[in-house]
Amino acid sequence: MLPYQPLNRSVAGKTLFVTGAASGMGRATAHLFAREGANVMATDLNGEGVEAVAAEIREAGFETVRAMALDVSDQDALKTAVAATVEAFGGLDILINNAGFARQAHPSEDAYEDIWRASIDVMLSAHQRLIRAALPHLMASSEGGRIVNIASTEGLGATPLNGPYVAAKHGVIGLTRAMAVDLGRDGITCNCICPGPIITGITDAISDEHKTIYAKRRVPLRRYGIPEEVANITLSLCLPAASYLTGAIIPVDGGMSIKNA
Ligand code: NAI
Repeated sequence: MLPYQPLNRSVAGKTLFVTGAASGMGRATAHLFAREGANVMATDLNGEGVEAVAAEIREAGFETVRAMALDVSDQDALKTAVAATVEAFGGLDILINNAGFARQAHPSEDAYEDIWRASIDVMLSAHQRLIRAALPHLMASSEGGRIVNIASTEGLGATPLNGPYVAAKHGVIGLTRAMAVDLGRDGITCNCICPGPIITGITDAISDEHKTIYAKRRVPLRRYGIPEEVANITLSLCLPAASYLTGAIIPVDGGMSIKNA
């Protein structure tokens, strides 16, 4: 029998790059990793918002956080942001592709084409571009680089009027599997989280009453989740000890995706 081998269950000293960190799950992820001792580069399209999140984290006593305005659909800006992260912290070990938005449309609407383009750009192409920009640094990470892509239960099925979002999120699952296969030899893991209904900016417009009705009907745990419940699963996938898990598609949805009726 192999001797028992204790594995490192800490991200302290690792450097995290997270997109969409001004709000919701990205914000919770930035907070959690900073609390766990990681260096955090928090980025978002909303520069003021992400600066405010970094200030919150510093006020809570965790100093190893930087904020940067970043539109993930700007290819050059992605490369600059990665370079700035490496300059600030000396490397990049963990990449969280999280930024996203939800815009509904019926295929008959003229707006469909624009929503399609933006959705694929921000919620799929940007993931691939950021992974490629970060790759040399993830390869150099001492205990193995980590990539976590935030997809959705819309990557596993489809709700009405959500075509571009559904297509992007299904694509994220495919990208995750492809990266897991291609980057395994470099010791990099790539996993995907599919959140169910979570209380964030994206679901803000849904009234509390409708959230409750929906959750009681569709979610075995009978409630919306909170961003921290997703951030904790993200963290677990990024531990050095999570070294033999790659290409996994993990619903964090209160059981929604396994409930038939
Ligand atoms: P949120 O609206 O609270 O946060 C999303 C953040 O992404 C915002 O701060 C926004 O400014 C940023 N963002 C949007 N476009 C961007 C761009 N082009 N460049 C950089 N940043 C940009 O929403 P939430 O829910 O925290 O979203 C995070 C991820 O979770 C998204 O990918 C979303 O699709 C996914 N998700 C959310 C679910 C939910 O119920 N809230 C369910 C399943 C997936």
